[in-house]
Amino acid sequence: MNINFEIQSTFYKWEIKLKINMQTSKNWIEHFKANALHQRVDWNLSPQLTTHETGTILHSLQAWQLGETSEGKNLIMASTKYAERIGDLYYVNAVRLFIKEEQKHGNNLGRYLDAIGQPRIQKDWGDTLFRRIRYLNTSMEAWTLAVIVVESTAQIFYQALKDATGCVLLKQICTDILIDEAYHITFQTERLASIFYSRSEFGRNFRKPFYKVFFYCTSALVWFAHRKLFKAGGNTFNGYMRKMAYKYQKTINTITSSLAMQIA
Ligand SMILES: [Fe+2]
Ligand SMILES: [Fe+2]
Repeated sequence: MNINFEIQSTFYKWEIKLKINMQTSKNWIEHFKANALHQRVDWNLSPQLTTHETGTILHSLQAWQLGETSEGKNLIMASTKYAERIGDLYYVNAVRLFIKEEQKHGNNLGRYLDAIGQPRIQKDWGDTLFRRIRYLNTSMEAWTLAVIVVESTAQIFYQALKDATGCVLLKQICTDILIDEAYHITFQTERLASIFYSRSEFGRNFRKPFYKVFFYCTSALVWFAHRKLFKAGGNTFNGYMRKMAYKYQKTINTITSSLAMQIA
């Protein structure tokens, strides 16, 4: 499914012709539609959460359930503006399907909370902070970077949640999310790569340290908010940050690799 996709980019006063090894928006639409047909959670199972497990994971479960339910209005606005600029209107549909998949995560976690008789919360400081930042942000680049960091923390979070419980139903919900999230990171990293290389050399060098600071600070913030759950899943702060450092390096390698840029 990988193809060479040429993007004629005319933003920011100069024209850059990029040849990036990435999938087209049409490919991504096909992927999201096909993935939506997979039912990986057996809802006939009853939840089996012990009192101890509930005490450890409930707060984080409620917070991530809330975070996964965003309507994505601002992201759709930013991606529509961006898609018009690059002449790829299919991209907006791909983003809509991406948001729908995130909402599926929120719905599944919500359904699980209902099943264990716990409330879905309406407010969480981390969610409020992230929503405020998203509200103020109309740049596709900043959006994409923020989503990559959050998705990367999500991979560790859902693995920790899975490891912190013996409940088969909750483990299945986590596995389903983890499968989706791996594709989300590829989807967003490809986009960040194409945006990154539409910048001048000065712009690219200027951005790299900013990406790094943003990635590490956000990672530390997510640890702080959900450390109880991360620890219950077998993580230490140093171990968690090492995993995030690896994910950061992988992201940077992808967007700066020589494969990703062949300016014609
Ligand atoms: Fe998600
Ligand atoms: Fe995601």
